[in-house]
Amino acid sequence: MKRIIRLGMTGLLVVVVIAIHAQETKQVFIYSPSERAGLHIAQQTETGWKELGQLCSSDYGTWGAEKRMYHPSVARANDGSWRLVFQVNDKSPLFAAAYSKDLVSWRPQDYPIMTTSQCLQPTVFANENGSFDIYFKTKGGEKRWVSASNDFRRFSKDEKSLIDDVAWTRDTAMVNGLSVDGCLFELSAAEMGVITDYFNRLAQDGKQSQERMYEDAKNFPDLQPVEAVLTITNQEKTISDKLIGIFFEDISYAADGGLYGELIQNRDFEYVPKDHRGWKATTAWSASKPINVVQVDPLSKNNPRYAVLGNDTIYNEGWDGIAVNAGEKYDFSMFVRNYNAKKSFIIQLVDSNDVVLAKATLKTEGSDWKKYDAVLTAKRSCTKARLAVIGVKGIKAGIDMVSLFPQETFMHRKNGLRKDLAQVIADLKPKFVRFPGGCMSHGQGLENIYHWNHTIGPLQDRKPDFNIWGYHQTRGLGFFEFFQFCEDIGAEPLPVLAAGVPCQNSNNNRDGIGGQQGGIPMDQMPAYIQELLNLIEWANGDPTTSKWAKMRADAGHPAPFNLKYLGIGNEDIISTVFEERYEMICRAIREKYPEIKICGTVGPFHAPSADYLEGWDFSKKHSDLQYMVDEHYYESTGWFMHHRDYYDNYDRHMPKVYLGEYAASTPEKRPNVETALAEALYLTDIERNGDVVEMTSYAPMLAKDGHRNWDPDMIYFSNTEVCPTPAYETQRLFSVNSGDRYVATSLSGIPLQLKHRIAASMVRDSKTGKKYLKLVNALPVELTISLNGLMIPEGTLAEGFDGQPEEQSVEVKSFEVKGEKIVLPPYAFRVIRL
Ligand code: AHR
Repeated sequence: MKRIIRLGMTGLLVVVVIAIHAQETKQVFIYSPSERAGLHIAQQTETGWKELGQLCSSDYGTWGAEKRMYHPSVARANDGSWRLVFQVNDKSPLFAAAYSKDLVSWRPQDYPIMTTSQCLQPTVFANENGSFDIYFKTKGGEKRWVSASNDFRRFSKDEKSLIDDVAWTRDTAMVNGLSVDGCLFELSAAEMGVITDYFNRLAQDGKQSQERMYEDAKNFPDLQPVEAVLTITNQEKTISDKLIGIFFEDISYAADGGLYGELIQNRDFEYVPKDHRGWKATTAWSASKPINVVQVDPLSKNNPRYAVLGNDTIYNEGWDGIAVNAGEKYDFSMFVRNYNAKKSFIIQLVDSNDVVLAKATLKTEGSDWKKYDAVLTAKRSCTKARLAVIGVKGIKAGIDMVSLFPQETFMHRKNGLRKDLAQVIADLKPKFVRFPGGCMSHGQGLENIYHWNHTIGPLQDRKPDFNIWGYHQTRGLGFFEFFQFCEDIGAEPLPVLAAGVPCQNSNNNRDGIGGQQGGIPMDQMPAYIQELLNLIEWANGDPTTSKWAKMRADAGHPAPFNLKYLGIGNEDIISTVFEERYEMICRAIREKYPEIKICGTVGPFHAPSADYLEGWDFSKKHSDLQYMVDEHYYESTGWFMHHRDYYDNYDRHMPKVYLGEYAASTPEKRPNVETALAEALYLTDIERNGDVVEMTSYAPMLAKDGHRNWDPDMIYFSNTEVCPTPAYETQRLFSVNSGDRYVATSLSGIPLQLKHRIAASMVRDSKTGKKYLKLVNALPVELTISLNGLMIPEGTLAEGFDGQPEEQSVEVKSFEVKGEKIVLPPYAFRVIRL
């Protein structure tokens, strides 16, 4: 309760608020109901403790095994702000530490590394001077002390402590019938207001997020066709001309076995169990006798293993078989070193009955590694052929880098891309390509961070590595090939590389440290930063003066690739470890290459997540560092439909937005008409906010049948088929009908409760003068739009799709439109070219 006293003083009304402390405060209990439940808050009521909700969860380590919170301890600082520490497991030399101003938004967690291998039951106390004392125990029962700075970002080295056990005394409460340990606090009414508002907003958001189109019959039982008026103005603003691009990540076999044209699996005999449990150097190969793999005098130090072939045939099964087409030519190559005189090999493609589909002979000589080529022409088509390498009598030879490419690659590039898949991507006319991925970029632990320079040069010298998604990366599709693909399809390259920290979901390393693993040690950061600078030099430099640019020229591209954008970090936890490294990297790039537009990151989730808030806070404070920041959110269709104003109030003077990963989903996961329409609705609002949103990319883009790590994806494929989804059609229609000017329009006459289901957006391409009007009807009834300020001339074409929400494929059709009215059937998306 507040007593408000109004005093009249020299004509001014002064409002004095006297807080009557005792009556106003509420008792709260902060605790964790169980190890995976995170930090909760309960409020004292007349009938006992009532749970209000979850304040934050644990972000530590990998999904599944970690993300646990034990013994949370909360302290209140002199200024009323909060500090939290908790134990993450019983084996790692660290604990979690977080900061909050109001108990509801927490700064992303830091994990200070201690000298002991366990940090059990950390407990925190606020000191008068603003610092904090943290005590924890080890498994042997030793007590240790560490001091934390007021901002809770700096932690002293831990020391032995003699503090009494009483420091670990906790309060107990019965919440939801469970007796739990925790911390008791008194909060003011204002503080309680912030907390209850927060939970109310979350609840409201949760409810809206559950809205599903295929429950419309239940939710809109008597809905009649809707009529609306679209007023088109002559007001325009400049918007980004790069709104729709693509996100390429080697996930779900998108690279090897996918877009990369190589048909031989494990061509270099480098598969190891680290790639995938049970995998070894001979995985995907077979022979009648055990295959001898050795490492003596290898072809390359980066490719130490190779097979030694005697009088035997070894077969490669390809990626779930090798699909070949009758009459097509295939380029075969392999490196050979003979142990005895000149020898020949027979190379065949055979079907499952060992019937020969194609054949070539290879004559080899010399004991040094040498590359041999042959062309195989398929006599018949087969979807599951195998490659046979047959050593003729008396042979003993080492073989490595056994490779088979269709001659028909995309744009006939050598070491090229699978044509049909690349063509579907090219048809999207993406304005940029982000690569080499999301989590794969920052990697599974520090050792697995993606190093772009390991992916260029001769194939045998590239450094293969395991993939965070549970398989192997040959790096045959490396940075040269990515840049070349961008050039081939007229898209800007947008490489995204680690900010000196690995994926926050990384497994424990050998020291038992998971998550960001403390980041690349500071003494190694200069070398890492140099590696990033070398990329810019490699892409844009002059081959006559730069050794990195010369590598590009030697690979066949003397002209610069004209790199303009560089992403640093991928949805990292915006911890102190991240911020320090990110800032160092950006400063170095800005100093040497001020023309490069840096893209930062604001974590894996939208507002009001901790990383989003801290990420934006940091980016705004350091707005000179980056041109834009990368936002990610995978959400329900309901969420997208109810957050269409997401960018309306973004500060236009701050870094721009790259919505680098997003997708709408339903519980069925596969893209369908419902998800495609939710995305279309949202993209009309992105166009409207195209002055602050610079780029967007749906994610993930590719997924191979039988090897999916993630759903939904934009394009599914097998060895023989490419299946673009409704999500693809939405992306394509927005991309090929884009402009650089937004024409203001307004829709009227729509009942309030239906507004989130209808959208219109008009853009103009200032180069061609063409206008594109996009209309979305995500309602179960027909929508008639009367145009105010526009008369569509006869012969005008519209393109689009419609269907039932749960349909997983759509047919994009053309329609003729004219006059002043447009009728959209239920669940429809149309683009009208004017
Ligand atoms: O797009 C799939 C994954 O989602 C990306 O690797 C990662 O950045 C995000 O979590």
